[in-house]
Amino acid sequence: RKVYVLNGPNLGRLGTRQPDVYGATTHAMLAEHLVATGEGLGLQVEVRQTDDEATMIGWLHEAADDSADVVLNAGAWTHYSYAVADAAALVPRYVELHISNVHARESFRHASVLSAGAAGIIVGCGVGGYDLALAHLAATA
Ligand code: DQA
Repeated sequence: RKVYVLNGPNLGRLGTRQPDVYGATTHAMLAEHLVATGEGLGLQVEVRQTDDEATMIGWLHEAADDSADVVLNAGAWTHYSYAVADAAALVPRYVELHISNVHARESFRHASVLSAGAAGIIVGCGVGGYDLALAHLAATA
């Protein structure tokens, strides 16, 4: 089974961006780790990051065409992008993920246009949340 882990804007700067909020793990380290986690769970994991909304929408279309589940950290798009939400609605299942506890931060981060359609939501578990999301997708149909 294939699972896409799709990370949105500014997440390519993991490791250096506000490490107090997002941790010290870089995106490259995270990607390598999640491929290995996926192998252990019997999932073929593909990790991608983009700062471009059109690219993200294209990847969600690709996941839909592949009938692949998605772990989606849409970054700030989470809070306002109906275009990303409409594209996410096309995939079989997606887990909405946030590294930080968005509810403990600025009020604009409390709203999500992705939550209603999500199979699950993981918030505030650090980068370890991605492992939890993969475990959930592997354990359920
Ligand atoms: C984030 C939280 C968002 O509010 C923020 O814009 C991000 C990252 C997180 O992983 O905690 O870019 O999705």
